[in-house]
Amino acid sequence: MTIDVHPSVGDEALLREAIASLKANRIDPKSLYVTPHQADLWRQVSLKHSPIYGNLEFARIYRDAFNQVLDRFQPGKILLVGLGCGTGAKEAELYSSLKSRGRAALFSAIDVSRDLVMESVQKLIGAGAEHRRSLVCDLAQSAFLGEWLDEQDCDLPRLITFFGLVPNFAPSMISRIFRAVLRPSDVLLVSAHLAPVRQESKEELGAAMASVLPQYNNPETLAWLTAGLEHWNLADRVDVPEMTIGQVEGIPAFLAQARWKTSLPFEKWGHPFSPQIGGPLRLFYSLRYTPPLFEDLLRREGFDFDLLAITSCRQEAIWSVRRGTGAMFQPPPT
Ligand SMILES: C[S@@+](CC[C@H](N)C(=O)[O-])C[C@H]1O[C@@H](n2cnc3c(N)ncnc32)[C@H](O)[C@@H]1O
Repeated sequence: MTIDVHPSVGDEALLREAIASLKANRIDPKSLYVTPHQADLWRQVSLKHSPIYGNLEFARIYRDAFNQVLDRFQPGKILLVGLGCGTGAKEAELYSSLKSRGRAALFSAIDVSRDLVMESVQKLIGAGAEHRRSLVCDLAQSAFLGEWLDEQDCDLPRLITFFGLVPNFAPSMISRIFRAVLRPSDVLLVSAHLAPVRQESKEELGAAMASVLPQYNNPETLAWLTAGLEHWNLADRVDVPEMTIGQVEGIPAFLAQARWKTSLPFEKWGHPFSPQIGGPLRLFYSLRYTPPLFEDLLRREGFDFDLLAITSCRQEAIWSVRRGTGAMFQPPPT
C-alpha cells in the first residue's frame, strides 16, 4: 500500500503552524487528529454523538445522494477520492453502490491522519476497490492537490467526497479546496451539518443551535479536546475546555475554548508566549450553515450545485458540486 506524505504535514510545517496558531491563541485544528490516541478518541466521539449512528434518516440521505449522483455519472471506471475520509465508512458505502451498478473504481484516501488513511484504504480494498496511492496532507494547503490527483490517473472522471469537513474549515478555505480538486467533468459530494431551522429568523437560529449543542458539549468531545491540549503540553496552563455558541465569518458555530489560568509568560518550541489570565485559547470550531447560507457561499464562489438530500430534522444535507462555468473560473484576460 503506497501512502504519500506531503510536506504540509512534515515536522517543519507542523511546528511553524503550531507556533503561529498558539501566538494567535488558537490550537491548530488538525493537531486534534494527529496521534493514534487522538484519532481513537475522535472515533469514539463520532460513534457516540454523530446522529448518523442513531438516526436512520442520516444514513438514508447518504444512500439517496449516492443513488442520484451515480445515476447521472457517465458509465465506466472512476477515480473515487475521499477528502478528509476519516475511517472511510461513507466512501465504502459509496463504493458498494458503485459496485452494485457494475462500476469499477480506483480509490484514493486523503486525510491528515495516517492511521485514518490506512484504515479507509484497507476498508475499500477489502470491498474490492483498486488502490494505487493515498495521501497524508493538510487540506488547508490545497494548492498541490490537483497535481497530485492528476498523477493518479488524469483520464478518469473524479467523484470526490468531502463529508463532515465543512464545519471545520472557514468558508474561504472551502472554496479554495473545491477549486483545487475539481475539473469540469468532476463531481464533488459534500455534506454539511446544519442549524436545524425552518425559517431563517435570528430567534429560531439561536434555538436551533441550542438544540444541537449536546452533540458537542459532552464528556467524549471534551476528552478529545483535552487530548489536543495534552498533545501540546498545555493542559496544566488552562482551565477545563468549555463549549459555546458563536459565529465564524458570520456563520453560526460551536466554539470550544479553554481559559488561560495565568498570565505567566512561558517558552515553547524556542519561542516566548504571553497568555492573558482568563483570556480564551480556541481549541475547535464547528460551523452550522443553513441551506441558504451554504448555497450563498457556493454561488458567490462560482460553483454549480444541487441539493441532493436533507434529513427531515434538517440537521444534515448533501449537495453535489461542480466547477461552475461562471466568471470566477474564466482565465484572467491576457
Ligand atoms: C469530522 S471528520 C470527518 C470524517 C469522515 N469524512 C466522516 O464523514 O465520517 C474530519 C476528518 O478530516 C480530517 N482532517 C481534519 N482537518 C484536516 C486537514 N486540515 N487536512 C486533512 N484532513 C483533515 C480528520 O483527520 C478527520 O478524518
